[in-house]
Amino acid sequence: MKRLEVSLPGLKMKNPIMPASGCFGFGREYAGLYDLSVLGAAAIKAATVEARFGNPTPRVAETHSGMLNAIGLQNPGVDQIMEKELPFLKSYDLPIVANIAGSTEEDYCEVAEKMSSHPQVSVLELNISCPNVKEGGIQFGTDARTAAALTKRVKAVSSKPVYVKLSPNVANIAEMAIAVEEAGADGISMINTLLGMRIDLKTRKPILANKTGGLSGPAIKPVAIRMIHEVSQAVSIPIIGMGGVSCAEDVIEFMLAGASAVAVGTANFVDPFICPDIISQLPELLEKMNVSHIRELIGGSWRECEVPSLSR
Ligand SMILES: Cc1cc2nc3c(=O)[nH]c(=O)nc-3n(C[C@H](O)[C@H](O)[C@H](O)COP(=O)(O)O)c2cc1C
Repeated sequence: MKRLEVSLPGLKMKNPIMPASGCFGFGREYAGLYDLSVLGAAAIKAATVEARFGNPTPRVAETHSGMLNAIGLQNPGVDQIMEKELPFLKSYDLPIVANIAGSTEEDYCEVAEKMSSHPQVSVLELNISCPNVKEGGIQFGTDARTAAALTKRVKAVSSKPVYVKLSPNVANIAEMAIAVEEAGADGISMINTLLGMRIDLKTRKPILANKTGGLSGPAIKPVAIRMIHEVSQAVSIPIIGMGGVSCAEDVIEFMLAGASAVAVGTANFVDPFICPDIISQLPELLEKMNVSHIRELIGGSWRECEVPSLSR
């Protein structure tokens, strides 16, 4: 298994696979299906200062190759998560990526300070990119200066490495990545969902109560690959890549694009065993590709060839 190990700031992973935030809850449901210790890490659902009920239903809709969601950051609040949810995961050998969200810089700082002090939390993942909350969220994720200012403040109160999760809903993703790197981010997670919408032909109205939602799943994979390829050449901090991963080949593609670890989101809803299945398939795939260690793949699509840089 050593050939799958990867190391990122704060994350020593036995393999590069983790469930993506919001698609794994706090692990309870999946713990009944497989041994969570097989995972490289786990990103838990976003935590906010207070408990949130989320948006009104309907808040998910299927699409031909993915789904739309407008959950709206439903969670029991940071204190409950630290007291009730994290202890449940204690018996597993599982680095925890604590996803945090808020409406103001102060909110983020409060959650970051609390979460980073928890002994089970390995790193923070700053969700500046949730497209489904009216207040806050989206502005942090679409303006480079605002994202950098938030990163700096969170870094100042956090005792653990901070990964910033970027929104794909921007014109220049590399500019966002450079801004948060310069503000002290230890890593980048990308991508979050793409803003989308569906309309019901019977009612002639938007299907989601929130009208718009975030598109995820196989439909967004090429967007994620392009953005990771671009960002990984623009910054020197590592990337946790995600967006439509649903098989071991996808993981290789993300790593060749420049990801150092890979998160699996929507595919967990299609097949709850997808993460352990991918992990068990990776060694054979590396064998076929004549790759002795998975980290050799990171950035392989641009590292050895002349690809014009799209930034800097
Ligand atoms: C139902 C649902 C809930 C999500 N909740 C969160 C969240 O709380 N925090 C976050 O940063 N991303 C959240 N995401 C985004 C995923 O973590 C991931 O970035 C995105 O879905 C792209 O990956 P995928 O195509 O593999 O799903 C959520 C996605 C889905 C589908």
